[in-house]
Amino acid sequence: MVKHRITQGSWDTTQTAEGKRFLADKMVALDPSKAALAYLLCRSLGARRVVEAGTSYGVSTIYLAAAVRDNVAGTDDPAIVYGTEHEPGKVSAAERNLTEAGVAEYVDILSGDLRETLTTVDGPIDFMLVDIWIPMALPALRAVEPKLRSGALVLCDNVVSGATDYADYLAYVRDPDGPFQSVTIPGQGGVEISMKR
Ligand SMILES: C[S@@+](CC[C@H](N)C(=O)[O-])C[C@H]1O[C@@H](n2cnc3c(N)ncnc32)[C@H](O)[C@@H]1O
Repeated sequence: MVKHRITQGSWDTTQTAEGKRFLADKMVALDPSKAALAYLLCRSLGARRVVEAGTSYGVSTIYLAAAVRDNVAGTDDPAIVYGTEHEPGKVSAAERNLTEAGVAEYVDILSGDLRETLTTVDGPIDFMLVDIWIPMALPALRAVEPKLRSGALVLCDNVVSGATDYADYLAYVRDPDGPFQSVTIPGQGGVEISMKR
């Protein structure tokens, strides 16, 4: 129900005090098949530096961290996933979950509003997951875009079920003269996969 209302854009839950209060402890995790897709894309890219817009309790973060861990296995190369989360309780819970999963050393959760925290991230970034309340999707992408390397991929969730509210994001990544080349994969709410030119 919560996810439906968010993805349908029937309720502005994003940054209002009331919306934030209601959503403070809600878990709206990425579908397992989409998280597995993110893992595969990161492995295929050889991703070592990843940004996640929207960490929540860390479900998708575990897949991303496992991917960068596996990409640097047997090397001394560093690897990092930058998570983002503005609810302190979720940050603490995600850190516990990542520790339990054995991947905490590969994750730095940036605590606070991603419109501020993402400005501190250094590039080059190989992969970005956009799984955030919809009005934050384009600001998150714009904050990271200058740091995405050429060929980096951005996976954004629910772009078919939430198409109306994703209009600004989709227009941006689909602009033929813009910085991305993009494709929509339908099913389960749909995902958009965009490649930085
Ligand atoms: C859809 S959930 C992320 C789910 C997560 N990827 C997973 O698979 O478990 C989106 C999260 O983004 C957080 N969020 C929303 N707006 C934010 C903002 N401006 N800055 C940082 N985090 C934000 C919410 O608190 C919420 O936990």
